Amino acid sequence: MTTTTARPTTPTRARRDWWIPASLLLLAAVPSASGVARLVDLSGGRTEENARFFDLPLPILVHILGATTYLVLGAFQLMPSLRRRRPRWHRWSGRVLVPAGVAGGLSGMWMAAWSDLPAYDNEALMWLRLLFGAVMVGGLVLGLLAIRRRDVRTHQRWMARAYAVAQGAGTQALVLGPVVVVAGQPSGNLKAVGMGAAWVINLAVAEWLVRRSEASRRG
Ligand code: HEM
Repeated sequence: MTTTTARPTTPTRARRDWWIPASLLLLAAVPSASGVARLVDLSGGRTEENARFFDLPLPILVHILGATTYLVLGAFQLMPSLRRRRPRWHRWSGRVLVPAGVAGGLSGMWMAAWSDLPAYDNEALMWLRLLFGAVMVGGLVLGLLAIRRRDVRTHQRWMARAYAVAQGAGTQALVLGPVVVVAGQPSGNLKAVGMGAAWVINLAVAEWLVRRSEASRRG
């Protein structure tokens, strides 16, 4: 069992930590805004383009609401000074964001496996979505189980990995955005590689940050 050492949080340190939620919210802005745009579009009625969502709206509604709630609340969970100063807030926010993240991930996996995907998505992308969706949902479950047995280090590792996968939606916009500008809507293997690369980049960054913070706590 591992526990964190309580360190006093100075106002300067707390102010310095705000870059963490600020940059995570910025990264989440594109997928969250496209979620809102999709909800507005669906409320306007059925079109040829939105038929795959309109004819079976529950998965996309659960996906957008769950994933957006998870990304927004999760951005503040990763702020060390806030966790230390407001442990009750951390717990209550966690009780909302874990089910929201699980719902967002499972509904994404459901759509990947069962929905009629657009012509520009291929089977490789479907498998990537199933793989990383499973890492996200599995990470949340493992993180939750770890904190129930008071294993803070394992909790933090799995929560960071799950959140990194969810933020893949933001990094995908950064990776594929320039492709859209230069060459138009990517499709097939190019899209699958871009989406997969974004998930791998995020997981590598999360792993590096977790290990760096563990090393600084030890030293
Ligand atoms: C591993 C996690 C995720 C998986 C497996 C996943 C999977 C999917 C799938 C299969 C679709 C349907 C694609 C289509 O038919 O065009 C979709 C759509 C969407 N996802 Fe995710 N997703 C994930 C995470 C997220 C996150 C964190 C967000 C953030 C809000 C998000 C936002 C959206 C939005 C807005 C759409 C609708 C896109 C549109 O309007 O065409 N997703 N997702």
